[in-house]
Amino acid sequence: MKRVDDFRLSFPGQGGSRQELVPIMIGGMGVDISTAELALEVARLGGIGHISDAMVHTVSDTRFDTNFVSQKLKKYKANVASSDKSSVQFCLGALAEATRNHVGAAMQAKRGDGMVFINCMEKLTMNAPADTLRVRLKAALDAGIDGITLSAGLHLGSFALMADHPRFRDARLGIIVSSTRALALFLRKNARLNRLPDYVVVEGPLAGGHLGFGMDWAQYDLATIVAEVLAYLKAEHLDIPVIAAGGIFTGSDAASFLEMGAAAVQVATRFTVTQECGLPDKVKQEYFKASEPDIEVNTLSPTGYPMRMLKGSPGIGAGIRPNCEAYGYLLDANGKCAYIDAYNREVELHPTAKKVSVRDKTCLCTHMRNFDIWTCGQTAYRLKDTTTRQEDGSYRVLTAEHVFRDYQFSVDQKIALPAA
Ligand SMILES: Cc1cc2nc3c(=O)[nH]c(=O)nc-3n(C[C@H](O)[C@H](O)[C@H](O)COP(=O)(O)O)c2cc1C
Repeated sequence: MKRVDDFRLSFPGQGGSRQELVPIMIGGMGVDISTAELALEVARLGGIGHISDAMVHTVSDTRFDTNFVSQKLKKYKANVASSDKSSVQFCLGALAEATRNHVGAAMQAKRGDGMVFINCMEKLTMNAPADTLRVRLKAALDAGIDGITLSAGLHLGSFALMADHPRFRDARLGIIVSSTRALALFLRKNARLNRLPDYVVVEGPLAGGHLGFGMDWAQYDLATIVAEVLAYLKAEHLDIPVIAAGGIFTGSDAASFLEMGAAAVQVATRFTVTQECGLPDKVKQEYFKASEPDIEVNTLSPTGYPMRMLKGSPGIGAGIRPNCEAYGYLLDANGKCAYIDAYNREVELHPTAKKVSVRDKTCLCTHMRNFDIWTCGQTAYRLKDTTTRQEDGSYRVLTAEHVFRDYQFSVDQKIALPAA
């Protein structure tokens, strides 16, 4: 059987050359779970790492000493007690600056032959979906990002939003889909731009984060969808690299997708327990400890997409006041978010309570910002098998290099343990 290192992901380079990469892409994990450090390490090793632009203001504030979040909160402070959030808007200049800070610093620090991409979740509608997305995309291109992956809530018009940018045709632009139908629709809608995606990530039902499936996700299977997408592209005579994602846990799993015709794999869960990952150490231990019954897919996300997470996530059931004046990333085009409605309903039902519990939705901005929603892939329960335990009983956190090399070189479903 072949191993991942027997394959290369190849993109057209400058002057007719090809750029060859190790066919391992680390998926975007917001909010700053897939840190610049993780993405840079993967680029150094010859693969593709992602940063994410989810809640980029808070990322900039943490890393670059800006104060975008407090400025926005100050501006809208008078609105905090109101359930009408329609007036709470993002300043587009600040959004561009925060994005440029995050992307610019990562690109300046990049070493090696790999690439750094940014994951843009289109479900971050930010109370002005097209305007804010346009700024996010263009600012990332301005700051020199190697590529952009459009995800969660893929909007059919997103390519058009940046079509007038000078880097529109040379940056790598890709999309995440979970069905051939979604891919076909995107290609049809974008045909007039004469600009195909440079890659298509096909994400199956076992992935972390939001799922492109309903609550019947268990009826779907990644290998079947990848085979369908490959057949569709062949029939249409389209040469677009397909990247398989979701539940690929070992190098052998990855190699089997490459053997069936995928150009690369996108993986994430195994990197949540690396030193470079942005999760706090305490949370990494929760991921290691997880057993299969501890993982659920639920409908708590206000986006309307099912999301997979550990049942012990502190954000589940927490009835905090919506924090849209500071954050507000999930406000739709009319300034609404499903969590606000759920919260107001509970407050009305319990008028004298000091604190309410909201069970059906969660304030995703606040809880993702504080690492209190522990989203993970379905294979997270196997993480404990990828490391050793220390004398105090805790699990040894891995290096990204160790996990990357394990995907790249392992065979026979083996997983390399860290050196003692
Ligand atoms: C902690 C975590 C956070 C994630 N956040 C995002 C995200 O912000 N945007 C996105 O498109 N995908 C997100 N994903 C999905 C991954 O990028 C990736 O496609 C998927 O998890 C791969 O499957 P695996 O985790 O089984 O390897 C996330 C996954 C994890 C584990």
